[in-house]
Amino acid sequence: MDEQIVTIERHIVEQEREYPKATGVFSNLLYDIALAGKIIAREMTRAGLVGSLGSTGKINVQHEEQMKLDVFANQTIIRMNSFTGRLAAMASEEREDVIDIPRGYGTGRYVLVFDPLDGSSNIDINATVGTIFGVYRRRSEEGAGTLADCLQKGRDTAAAGYIIYGSSTMMVYTTGNGVHGFTLDPSVGEFLLSHPNLRIPDEPRYSSVNHAYEKFRSEGIRRFGRWLRGMDEADPQKPLSERYFGALVADFHRTLLKGGIFYYPADSRYPQGKLRLIYEANPLAFIAEKAGGYASNGRSNILDIAPRALHQRTPLFIGDRSLVEKAEEFIAEYD
Ligand code: AHG
Ligand code: MN
Ligand code: MN
Repeated sequence: MDEQIVTIERHIVEQEREYPKATGVFSNLLYDIALAGKIIAREMTRAGLVGSLGSTGKINVQHEEQMKLDVFANQTIIRMNSFTGRLAAMASEEREDVIDIPRGYGTGRYVLVFDPLDGSSNIDINATVGTIFGVYRRRSEEGAGTLADCLQKGRDTAAAGYIIYGSSTMMVYTTGNGVHGFTLDPSVGEFLLSHPNLRIPDEPRYSSVNHAYEKFRSEGIRRFGRWLRGMDEADPQKPLSERYFGALVADFHRTLLKGGIFYYPADSRYPQGKLRLIYEANPLAFIAEKAGGYASNGRSNILDIAPRALHQRTPLFIGDRSLVEKAEEFIAEYD
């Protein structure tokens, strides 16, 4: 028989069928996220033509420059998900507080956390960016969702994924049962299954870190970097080739497909790390683990951290399990 064509909609529904008590709400929520991704991808493709490139001139809640497409992506996800009755609340990188469901619209059982556009400094040069998301079951009983609903451990993720706007647009997601990748066929506007059951390759291929900040880093981190480059005299390795997009989602996607490690450690500029736990590190850590990899803050599993604040930052080491554990060893020994 010829190979099947599987749309993301059908895939999501078939995954949900594995749970006899499922109501379909969860499937529809994931499908809405995929649709938001398509709208963002469309805007991105013609951004240079319709004046959507560049900065808004404003600074966001992270004290970082906000790009016009950051705002567009954020609004698209909120508008797509506010009125469906599926969510109790949302949290976004671009909003200080929990995003409530507007009055008069029903609330549902799930919570959506997201980085609407990750790597937005790449936008103006037509390089890869993405959207990262996590879905949790609410903890509160009913009514408006609470901050506590958004501050759940990564371990309790119901679904996690990302949409990457690169030379093609892809969506990768997991509900805990395998990691699956879909490529957008722009001519029909559908995400089609192209990468079923993704596993991080055993043979690591690339390491990924911004070396500019080496001087701000601890002894353990610096020694780990030297080890990766084959410069540890006591334990010389074959150096891993390096790649760095400066967009976590793209650096992670390569790590997932090709093997290796991405890390953004704490340093004296960012003593807690730069990346955000809830909507950057946790969804990718969950995906990594379901693909046979591992994510750590340098001392323990990212997925076991109990978040205390919406925009909490964390160091992140993610990808090949043995490389991430090697980073933990250097940190335990020297820091
Ligand atoms: P965002 O665009 O959502 O603010 O995230 C940017 C992050 C992340 O995507 C990337 O890994 C990191 O910033 C790059 O930081 P450096 O420029 O310090 O390397
Ligand atoms: Mn980001
Ligand atoms: Mn962002």
